[in-house]
Amino acid sequence: MDSRAVIEQILDFARWAPSGDNTQPWRFEIIAPNHVAVHGFDTRDHCVYDLDGHPSQIALGALIETAAIAASHHGLRTFARRRPDSPEHRPVFDLEFVADAGLAPDPLQAVVKTRSVQRRPMQTQPLSAAQKQALEAAIGADYAVDWLESTADRLKVAKMLFHSAKIRLTIPEAYRVHKDIIEWRAQFSEDRVPDQALGTDPMTTRLMQFVMQSWGRVETFNRFFAGTWAPRIQLDFIPGVACAAHFLLLAKTPARTIDDYVAAGRAIQRFWLTATQQGLQLQPEVTPLVFTRYAREKVAFSSKSGAQQMAQDLDERFTHAVGAHAAAHAVFMGRVGVGRQPTSRSLRRPLARLLSLEAK
Ligand SMILES: Cc1cc2nc3c(=O)[nH]c(=O)nc-3n(C[C@H](O)[C@H](O)[C@H](O)COP(=O)(O)O)c2cc1C
Repeated sequence: MDSRAVIEQILDFARWAPSGDNTQPWRFEIIAPNHVAVHGFDTRDHCVYDLDGHPSQIALGALIETAAIAASHHGLRTFARRRPDSPEHRPVFDLEFVADAGLAPDPLQAVVKTRSVQRRPMQTQPLSAAQKQALEAAIGADYAVDWLESTADRLKVAKMLFHSAKIRLTIPEAYRVHKDIIEWRAQFSEDRVPDQALGTDPMTTRLMQFVMQSWGRVETFNRFFAGTWAPRIQLDFIPGVACAAHFLLLAKTPARTIDDYVAAGRAIQRFWLTATQQGLQLQPEVTPLVFTRYAREKVAFSSKSGAQQMAQDLDERFTHAVGAHAAAHAVFMGRVGVGRQPTSRSLRRPLARLLSLEAK
């Protein structure tokens, strides 16, 4: 295989890394046969969830890790460096691939393209000791996993998620994000999230599509028809109970900088791929981490009156559910369990488009 084909194959795997709302905050520039520049960006200017760009930075870490996994199958070790002079909201990473005869092909490559978020209920059958061990080993020495597994704990988290979802469904800032990223009447979506992957039943999905035509409709529906109840029960409460466990990935030293979040993203991708390899489904639960940080850092995030107070209340519930140590150290949260492979999912922009720096 010529070296251009090798590098394209590596990037073709890398683009399957997960990103918040499938934003794919990366474009690629092939500089030399063993050198790619990843032009990253974040969406903090218009996405209420992308607080300080951290979720996008996690996605960039997942991308770099996936590239390294794919490169190992060509006997190439990956060296990734962020250009210190690149702006934090548009970071550029240089990936260099260096031949290393001693490098073993990483078996996680086998599941890079099948790993997908599952937002529907999973079985409550507990994880086996071997599954937990594999997941804990996947993240390396700088991180630890906290498990919330008992029925009482899952119920506590489910209630907390139910409260978090109220914020998500009643602030105009989140409405604008959801309107942009949902592709309606779709099983697959290259650049967004298809409505069928959201986890609501078909009737609720149609109703959501109707209501989400305008913010005015959302407000009316919320006020007079308890509009947030059906989606919160279907998307947050039931799945919150119907899983084997919730997990928090904790950074031993709390993450602060872009490099901390990129490193966390690498660990998160190994965790998620290992879950897939173990036959498990996974769904991230990142929005409570975001809203509680807004509350703790007293950053105003919504024009809606009462939103800040809701976040404050959520922070109390969150700390009660996961404990103060986990609340301070968490870089990621989600649920896992045995379940069906999703039949609807996000796809990715074609590699040719990601290789064009001007393309959206
Ligand atoms: C940093 C990050 C945060 C995410 N947060 C959530 C979340 O809170 N809820 C959710 O259902 N999915 C979440 N996701 C999953 C993405 O929506 C999903 O990975 C993306 O749409 C691509 O779909 P795929 O994973 O099926 O390929 C998150 C993913 C990342 C990388």
